[in-house]
Amino acid sequence: MALTAYNQVPISSFMYGTAWKKEATSRLVQLAVASGFTAIDTANQLVHYQEALVGEALRALEKKGIKRDSLFLQTKFTSVEGQGGRTPYDPSADLTTQVRQSFDSSLTHLGTDYVDSYVLHAPFSRRGLSEADWEVWAAMEGLYQSGKTKMIGISNVAAGQLAELCEQANHKPMVVQNRCYAALGWDQEVREICRANGIVYQGFSLLTANREVFADPEIHAIAKRLGAGLAQVIFRFAQQIGMLPLTGTTSERHMKEDLQAEQLALSSEELRRIETIAR
Ligand SMILES: NC(=O)c1ccc[n+]([C@@H]2O[C@H](COP(=O)([O-])OP(=O)(O)OC[C@H]3O[C@@H](n4cnc5c(N)ncnc54)[C@H](OP(=O)(O)O)[C@@H]3O)[C@@H](O)[C@H]2O)c1
Repeated sequence: MALTAYNQVPISSFMYGTAWKKEATSRLVQLAVASGFTAIDTANQLVHYQEALVGEALRALEKKGIKRDSLFLQTKFTSVEGQGGRTPYDPSADLTTQVRQSFDSSLTHLGTDYVDSYVLHAPFSRRGLSEADWEVWAAMEGLYQSGKTKMIGISNVAAGQLAELCEQANHKPMVVQNRCYAALGWDQEVREICRANGIVYQGFSLLTANREVFADPEIHAIAKRLGAGLAQVIFRFAQQIGMLPLTGTTSERHMKEDLQAEQLALSSEELRRIETIAR
């Protein structure tokens, strides 16, 4: 099943995340695609991601007949502050140039001439949008208008910032990617803005940010009723409330289990219960 943003570009309903995979990135991306994932998330940020090794995996997959355009590739622009000193563009250039250089370097790493989604890794501060954020966003809008990316988006964004962007941008984001805490109603405020604006909400760290949820007897009861694992219940819950989950698993068995979660059906009462589980 696919989700569709307001500009009618579809994304598959589960995404494989490549953070912290280090030298295993190429092998794991190939394994993820062989297991059934068609959407891959990375970033041009050497501190946490090996974008060039995602490209290596894509070349190996191409040799096996899996074409670039059968996959959804998402990467990110990360500011100098998030680069840990290994910046893949000229850090002294103006921001518009930084975005263009980072994007071109992503295309080189990935061995492609377009990406499906290009995401601003984070606004410059936690509150409000600065002049710098608007300059970066305008550069990303330029990439979208040129057709080099089919979508643009923003990550690690607060509800107020997203509302401002939706109101004032020439092109509002088509995707949002946030860490999703059960204690915040699974990022309810941000998800609500996404729903109202036709933005695809991507949730990450659904498992690792919500350890307390795994101890809840109700989750165990739902898993038992469905004959499913706890991770599968959380991922399916996320999909049924309209979210696109990311998984960062390194295990072939978990890759398959995570994808199979889509076969499960939680009742509306179970969805409501999980939505408010940590509040
Ligand atoms: N935009 C940002 O700032 C940002 C920040 C963080 C992450 N992300 C993106 O989100 C992706 C996912 O993040 P994440 O790694 O924190 O996600 P996650 O899926 O919450 O965490 C991965 C952990 O869950 C375990 N897991 C996955 N499926 C499982 C299953 N079926 N049963 C048991 N355990 C399971 C994995 O263990 P095993 O390896 O043993 O399966 C791994 O320890 C990242 O790779 C990255 O692409 C983005």
